[in-house]
Amino acid sequence: MSLALGVLISGRGSNLMAILDAIDRGSLDATVKLVASNKLNAAGLERAKERGVPTVYLDPKPFTQETNPREAYDRAMGALLQHHGVKYVALAGYMRIVTPTLIRMYPSKIFNIHPSLLPAFPGLDAQRQALEWGAKVSGCTVHLVTEGVDEGPIIVQAAVPILEGDTVESLSARILENEHECYPQALQLMAQQRLHLEGRQVHILS
Ligand code: GAR
Repeated sequence: MSLALGVLISGRGSNLMAILDAIDRGSLDATVKLVASNKLNAAGLERAKERGVPTVYLDPKPFTQETNPREAYDRAMGALLQHHGVKYVALAGYMRIVTPTLIRMYPSKIFNIHPSLLPAFPGLDAQRQALEWGAKVSGCTVHLVTEGVDEGPIIVQAAVPILEGDTVESLSARILENEHECYPQALQLMAQQRLHLEGRQVHILS
């Protein structure tokens, strides 16, 4: 099956580029139907446009008038994704908490990548958290999105050693290289229908 993907970003979009590159190489059976951002100046939007991918900026501000701004925003985002024929959603550096409104529109069909070995160091600044904790190993995690932040079933992880003298920048760069491998790989497992969800465990079928 070919995945009809929507990718949500807030920043530079290097994971988005890794996904597009994997599609071009033929190692990921997917089409990116839409790249959407909550940030007007997200560099990833420009990079997506250059690659001929439809993009949209959805401004959160008008939704602040609503009774439930986050739900209203996600309802609009979900409608946009559906309008573009998106069947699976990849969060790629999307720095907004996704509400149950969007999760219910795409149940077990939203992926996220996080720069730590979850459940260690969820939330913001995961690489800094790992360094400050004194961890010797960190890494990245691709997981399905559930209502708890960074809590969903884990699909793929890669470990990255923390070296003496590492800074947030040096560690982030090494983790990022692994993210660029893991994200397309996890999406390809979904495309191949090899993910079997049982409770919070994801079994990978051979
Ligand atoms: C990546 O390191 C990703 O794991 C992280 O933001 C970066 C986005 O980079 N995501 C989170 O921290 C989510 N909690 P990119 O825009 O170059 O893909």
